[in-house]
Amino acid sequence: MKKKTIGIGIIGCGTISDVYLTNITQHYHNLRLIACADMFLEKAEQMKEKYNIPIACTVDELLANEAIDIVLNLTIPAAHYEVNMQILNAGKHLYCEKPLTLSFEHAKEVIETAHKKGLMAVSAPDTFLGAGAQTCRALLDQNAIGKPLGFTANMTCPGHELWHPAPGFYYKAGGGPMFDMGPYYLTTLVSLLGPIKKVACFTTTGRPERNILGKTETAQVPTHYTAILEFSCGAVGNMNMSFDVWDSDLPCMEIFGTAGSITVPDPNAFSGPVKVYDGKKLEDIVSAQTAPHPAKIIAMMTHKKDCSTQQDLLFPSDPDPRGNMRGLGVSDMACALLNGRDSRLRSDICLHVVEALNAFETAARTNTVYEMKTSCQRPEPMSPDWKLWEVQ
Ligand SMILES: NC(=O)c1ccc[n+]([C@@H]2O[C@H](COP(=O)([O-])OP(=O)(O)OC[C@H]3O[C@@H](n4cnc5c(N)ncnc54)[C@H](O)[C@@H]3O)[C@@H](O)[C@H]2O)c1
Repeated sequence: MKKKTIGIGIIGCGTISDVYLTNITQHYHNLRLIACADMFLEKAEQMKEKYNIPIACTVDELLANEAIDIVLNLTIPAAHYEVNMQILNAGKHLYCEKPLTLSFEHAKEVIETAHKKGLMAVSAPDTFLGAGAQTCRALLDQNAIGKPLGFTANMTCPGHELWHPAPGFYYKAGGGPMFDMGPYYLTTLVSLLGPIKKVACFTTTGRPERNILGKTETAQVPTHYTAILEFSCGAVGNMNMSFDVWDSDLPCMEIFGTAGSITVPDPNAFSGPVKVYDGKKLEDIVSAQTAPHPAKIIAMMTHKKDCSTQQDLLFPSDPDPRGNMRGLGVSDMACALLNGRDSRLRSDICLHVVEALNAFETAARTNTVYEMKTSCQRPEPMSPDWKLWEVQ
C-alpha cells in the first residue's frame, strides 16, 4: 500500500518549535510526528507533554529511530552544521531552520553529503511558498510590471532582545540582522528574480551594548547592514537589515519594473497585501492633463493612488494576516518524497543564500564587490489550486 505520511523527528525544543509542533500536529496531515529531542531532555519532555508526542529522547535515540524519515533541526544557528551532519550521517532527510549553516564551506559540505547519500537537505524559510510571495511570482511571470530592473528590501527593528526569551545568540557570530533575517529576504528575492550575481555591503553598529535579559552584553557582530545587489537577470537593488532602527515607514519589499512596480508582503510572513502600480495608467492620467505647468506635476503626484491596485491572492491563505504557517516547506518535502517529485525548497537556493550571507561580510570587511560563485534555479511555483494547509 502507498505510504500516506512521512515520519518526523524534531531536534531543538526551543522558542520556534512551538509553531512547528502546532502546525504539524494540527494542520499538515502528511506529517506524522514521532519524536522530539533537545540537548536538555527536560525541554523535549515539556514539548512531548504539551503536544502529545509519542517520544521525547536524546538526539542519538531520535536519529536511531527507524520510523523517522525527515529530521527538523530547530537548534540555534551555531549548532546547525554539527546537527545537520549528524542527521545526514544517520541517513535521514534534513530540514534545518535558517540559515542552513553559518559558513559557505559548511553549507557545501552539508549539501554534498546529502547528494552522495541520496538525501534531501534544505533549510527554512518556507514563507516564499505562501500566498503573498506566490502571488507576486505569478504576477512577475505574467509580465505585470514588465522587466524587473530594481528593488528595495528592508527589515528594520530595534532588536530581538525586546521580545525573545533567550536573545544572546542574535548578537554573537552567526547572529546579527543579516544572518537572522537576511534568509527570508534573500530567498524571496531569489524565488522572484533568480540568482544573485554580485554584492557590495557596508555595516555599522548603532548600539553595541545590548540589554540581554537584564545583563549588558557587547554585540560581537554588526547590527546595521546596507547592501547593494546585482542579480543575473539584470535587476539591481538595496537591502537594509537592522537591529538598530526604532521605527521606519520603509516597505518590506518592492520590485520596480519597466512597466510598473509591485509591493511584496513581508518575507517573514506567509501572506499580506500585494499591490501592483501600473505605469501606463499614470502616463494616461498625466498626458490627459492639458492645463499649463504645474498641472501635470500635480496630476502626477495626486493620482498616484489611482494607479495602484490590490491584487487577489493566488490561493487562500491563513485568515490571520500574521498567520504563521511554518512547516509548509516540510509538508512539501514530505509530498515530494511520497509522490517522487522534487521538493520546492531547493538545496541550491539554500547554498546560494548562505554564500550571499557570507558575501556581505566579506564585501564589508574588504571594501570590495563580491562576485557570487554559486547559482541556483528558481523554485517550482505553488499550484493556484492549492488548498489551505494541503500540499500537492
Ligand atoms: N524565535 C523565532 O521567532 C524564530 C523564528 C524563525 C526562525 N527561527 C530560527 O529557529 C532556530 C531556533 O531559534 P529559537 O528562537 O527557537 O532558539 P531557542 O534558543 O529558543 O531554542 C533552541 C533550542 O535548541 C536546543 N539546542 C541547541 N543546541 C543543540 C544541540 N546541539 N543539540 C540539541 N539541542 C540543541 C536548545 O537547548 C534550545 O532548546 C534558529 O535557527 C532561528 O534562526 C527562530
